[in-house]
Amino acid sequence: MAHLANILKRPFRTNVVIALDRLHPGVTGQDYRQSLFEELRLLMGECDSGRRFLEIGPKDGQDTERLLTLKPARLDLVDLKDKEKSNQRWLKKLGQSRTQIVYHTANVMYDRLFEESSFDVIWCTGVLYHNPEQLRMIKRLFDLLKPRGWFVIESATTREPLLRNQNCVQILHPPSQDNKKKYHVSNNVTHLPSSLAIRSWLEMVDFENIQKSSCHYRQSRVLAKTRVAYLCQRPDQVNTHRGQYYQHTERVYEIGKSL
Ligand SMILES: C[S@@+](CC[C@H](N)C(=O)[O-])C[C@H]1O[C@@H](n2cnc3c(N)ncnc32)[C@H](O)[C@@H]1O
Repeated sequence: MAHLANILKRPFRTNVVIALDRLHPGVTGQDYRQSLFEELRLLMGECDSGRRFLEIGPKDGQDTERLLTLKPARLDLVDLKDKEKSNQRWLKKLGQSRTQIVYHTANVMYDRLFEESSFDVIWCTGVLYHNPEQLRMIKRLFDLLKPRGWFVIESATTREPLLRNQNCVQILHPPSQDNKKKYHVSNNVTHLPSSLAIRSWLEMVDFENIQKSSCHYRQSRVLAKTRVAYLCQRPDQVNTHRGQYYQHTERVYEIGKSL
């Protein structure tokens, strides 16, 4: 009965996505970023005009081009200083659709670029595990979303088979050539969360309608063991339970928002 109640509570489109996933024949070899984008498109349905999107760490512009097909009024891109030159190369080739893009060289965690509640969609793939303050990052992006805004988060996860199904973070410190070789990660990666850890953080900052994507599994079973993606929504209303973590102190503190 509880299972049926949960199904009825979900938006119709969500049930369609889940049903399609169950029917899915398994691995298709389709690029996981393309599959993830298709999941977002299905969940969002028809887009109103005037939407504003944010993409963090766009790398090669492929997701940028996909996001532009949803016709946002404005697409903000943000990346670190060392990626500026390479990003400008593919940006130049985008032609007419470039007019919707506003490019920022900044660190989305530490530079105050955007007002809270600015975005209808935040696309954040392959970025989380390059940042050690992961709960804070998720909270920051939650705050940048408008109510009902969609958050797409994709990340590498722990490479240790014994940790894979635990709710934990694998810390590779100090960064070393040995870790780089052993785990196939770049030198600046120190925190590899499990998929459950990312889900926990999404719940802790109050995201709702959290759905695990099947995008990696569609590309390859091996990839699905070392990466995860979730799609979720900022709720319409502020949750009155927020701050319960420190309730014994009789004060309300928002998790992930320390000064
Ligand atoms: C591994 S690439 C992922 C690129 C692409 N989105 C993907 O899914 O393949 C990570 C990108 O995120 C950027 N990045 C990491 N942390 C960031 C931060 N705090 N603020 C802005 N950009 C960040 C990096 O500079 C890099 O361009």
